[in-house]
Amino acid sequence: MNQNPIVLIGFMGVGKTSVGAFLAKKTKVNFCDTDKMITKTEGATPGEIFNKKGEPYFRRIESQILEQALKNNGVISTGGGIVEVKRNIHLLKKSKATIVYLYGDLPHIMHRLLRNTKRPIVERSTTRQLHDLWERRNQMYRAIADIVVDSTDKRNNVIAAEVNLGV
Ligand code: S3P
Repeated sequence: MNQNPIVLIGFMGVGKTSVGAFLAKKTKVNFCDTDKMITKTEGATPGEIFNKKGEPYFRRIESQILEQALKNNGVISTGGGIVEVKRNIHLLKKSKATIVYLYGDLPHIMHRLLRNTKRPIVERSTTRQLHDLWERRNQMYRAIADIVVDSTDKRNNVIAAEVNLGV
């Protein structure tokens, strides 16, 4: 197994947390989910933090958590907006981590997101805005990914095996 961290990036709803947890368990390495770490350190969910303290505050904490997480090996699942902050892109690029873009096609992602609107970005966006965000971020994820794995319509074990093959 690759000794360097594996960082899963990708749009909201693509399954980064469940694939990351599966992969880490399977390969017996640590697992870190940046959203879960933020919730733990702040005592509030991303939605609560967005509402009470604003997105820039959330992004600052997210960046600190990413920096810490990259110091350990294992699997790291990130929030979909990790690419919105230049410092994060810099941290990811200079790290030894393998960056995996977990791709999900737009119709599938939209279907999943609209079933569960708890995410702050989804709550405050129109369908058109989410489409545009997906298009824009899709380019950004591809630009920094070492490998791209299409997760559309695949089970976690299949996706995890494809990630492992690529690292
Ligand atoms: C966000 C994605 C969320 C969470 C926050 C902001 C985004 O994570 O970090 O709500 O900007 O795309 P998931 O990608 O795990 O939903």
